[in-house]
Amino acid sequence: MSEKLWDGRFTQSTDKLVEKFTSSIDVDKRLYAYDIEGSIAHCTMLAEVSVITDKERDVLIAGLNQIKTEIEQGQFIYDDSLEDIHMHIESRLFQITGKTAHKLHTARSRNDQVALDIRMYLREETRHIVSALNELRKILVSLAENNITTVLPGYTHLQRAQPVLLSHHLMAYYEMFTRDQQRFEDCLKRINVMPLGSAALAGTTYPIDRHFTAKLLDFPIVSSNSMDSVADRDFAVEFLSSASLCMIHFSRLSEELILWSSSEFSFIEISDAFTTGSSIMPQKKNPDVCEIVRGKTGRVFGDLMALLTLMKSLPMAYNRDMQEDKEPLFDGADTLKMCIEVYIRMLPNIRFKHDVMEQAASKGFLNATDMADYLVNKGLPFRQAHSAAGRTVSYAILNKKEIHELSIKELQSFSELISEDIFSFLTKEQMINRRKSFGGTGLDNVKAAIAKAKELLEL
Ligand code: ARG
Repeated sequence: MSEKLWDGRFTQSTDKLVEKFTSSIDVDKRLYAYDIEGSIAHCTMLAEVSVITDKERDVLIAGLNQIKTEIEQGQFIYDDSLEDIHMHIESRLFQITGKTAHKLHTARSRNDQVALDIRMYLREETRHIVSALNELRKILVSLAENNITTVLPGYTHLQRAQPVLLSHHLMAYYEMFTRDQQRFEDCLKRINVMPLGSAALAGTTYPIDRHFTAKLLDFPIVSSNSMDSVADRDFAVEFLSSASLCMIHFSRLSEELILWSSSEFSFIEISDAFTTGSSIMPQKKNPDVCEIVRGKTGRVFGDLMALLTLMKSLPMAYNRDMQEDKEPLFDGADTLKMCIEVYIRMLPNIRFKHDVMEQAASKGFLNATDMADYLVNKGLPFRQAHSAAGRTVSYAILNKKEIHELSIKELQSFSELISEDIFSFLTKEQMINRRKSFGGTGLDNVKAAIAKAKELLEL
């Protein structure tokens, strides 16, 4: 058994089961690089304010760098009795440097140390996610640009509603992922706050310079209340709620791609490289990637819920419960990163079947609203126009035709305001292009939205 770094007041050694139960090393070992970087900054600051000598600082830094190498080369030995990554590193530092190692923990606690590590970890993850989402948005914009005039049915209640441009549909996802990216950027402001020097909860009696440490670690802000600094995990909850929202968007997109690749829709074909087969049904080509993304969404919600529930009712300040924050946090970040990555790769490998989409947009009375609009243009109040178009639809259903397939005579039986110009009025192109209201599916609007997006993305 390794000696405990806290065993001074204990007369009995820790029960083996308790050691195993309280240990978090299997999970938090991935924080090693941040822990070492934080410790290097901490001892640099301690030397700066003369709490340790420059020589001691140099010995500690050399030892910490050696540990980093040992971990990266797989030579580091882990042991449950040392609880967590912080104790592992300090204990190994003692083996390397002798008693000097014992000075490293002056003016800090594992409580502010772990808060620092998580913040450093999370700001790196968040930056990565921001740039990955940026990449994804570029792909959506280029897909929209390449499919600029294709028309497909727009749905409400999963019933055909009105024709829309595929580019408009794709740009809807661009908007969602733009907000997601902004949410992560905003969240980063509250992640990027330096807690070290708060010590266990009350601050410290040593003349430390927290702003100096913050500068070394590239934090723009130092946390202002030592109790809050060690007790706060809001930033992690914010991260997981941003991740959950982002996953909702991926899940909705996945659901659509799954539907669209079914024989019933047949709007798209996902390339072989991004689909899988069945072990029994030779004909199957399944959209498993989309399904797994949809499934992983529940997992990220679970991570958020775990953290929310964990933090609820904890009294000030640090409580050991909080050790449980890492698993959901790591899992949420890993899952989201993977989903973004897989989508970045898969989206350009989707073939949009323009002809099928266009055909679908010509069936199912997607021009009924426009027929009502036509009558309004001719002077009928909208509610009466709506009713006349409704009666036309009902008649067309009985006769197994679309509105635009009825003869002018048939159409005129529903309103004498109707003349030949109704046929061009009800074409998909005209229907799309009349939707000029800002943000609507009119071609010029969509072109403008794409141009604005390209400017924002510096494309
Ligand atoms: N491993 C702990 C955590 O992740 C940090 C240590 C704080 N432990 C303590 N006994 N004060 O939260």
